[in-house]
Amino acid sequence: MNKILQIIDLKKNFGAITASNNINFCLETGEIHALIGPNGAGKSTLIKQIMGEMKQDSGEIILSGINISNLTTEDRIHLGFARSFQITDVISDFTIFQNVLLAKIGKEKKFYNFYSSIDSGELTYEEIKTILLKIDLWDEREKPASLLSHGERRQLEIGIALALNPKLILLDEPMAGLSLDKIEKMKLIFNQIKDDVPILLIEHNMDVVFSIADRISVLVNGKIIASGTSSEIKSNSDVKEAYLGTA
Ligand SMILES: Nc1ncnc2c1ncn2[C@@H]1O[C@H](COP(=O)(O)OP(=O)(O)OP(=O)(O)O)[C@@H](O)[C@H]1O
Ligand SMILES: [Mg+2]
Repeated sequence: MNKILQIIDLKKNFGAITASNNINFCLETGEIHALIGPNGAGKSTLIKQIMGEMKQDSGEIILSGINISNLTTEDRIHLGFARSFQITDVISDFTIFQNVLLAKIGKEKKFYNFYSSIDSGELTYEEIKTILLKIDLWDEREKPASLLSHGERRQLEIGIALALNPKLILLDEPMAGLSLDKIEKMKLIFNQIKDDVPILLIEHNMDVVFSIADRISVLVNGKIIASGTSSEIKSNSDVKEAYLGTA
């Protein structure tokens, strides 16, 4: 296990409110790590600090050994963050295949502009095929994005995230609005991609969290009160008292 993302002693106050209270957290290779907690626990505040959209008061954020605590969101994305719900640039007239291809080309162009060197990975048909197979849209590859169902669009967004060759994917409420069979499909997809790209998952659907998360961290009042497997979290008395028991 390798630490892809490491949060060390992160603190953030809003006046008298402590939204991040000395948070220590890590996302390792091969895992789906869910972050759960009641409303106002500080989940969004933590994600914003991880993405660089909000500055921490103190503490450090490390991505694959690189201290990114003071980098811009754009630089963090270049270094390997992908966040699915930010991807709104699915092009309706383009097919599924073309959309994934474009994401890949766009990424390489940005690399060229910012770092004066093209990402060494050569774009191939096979690479796109591998991604489309993982997100279960290979058979639909010629379908224009305008004809996609809500669920297929979510799948494509994951595919676009994968085309950016990220070190990790942040998923914020990926199951919201999906039917039960689509949720099952997304669970399979997440399980297929986690070996390549670990997933930090924020999800209110506890059935989903308990069935796919390899580890769960529970945030309450800005503090992580427990981290562990589904069964460890389900049986943790602090968690039951602070969250699950009252949910
Ligand atoms: N910009 C802000 N200014 C002041 N207080 C804030 C700000 N953003 C968040 N807070 C407060 O910080 C605390 C954590 O909020 P946050 O939105 O991170 O919680 P959350 O876990 O994402 O909640 P939810 O499940 O409702 O999305 C809350 O008390 C919230 O009111
Ligand atoms: Mg939130």
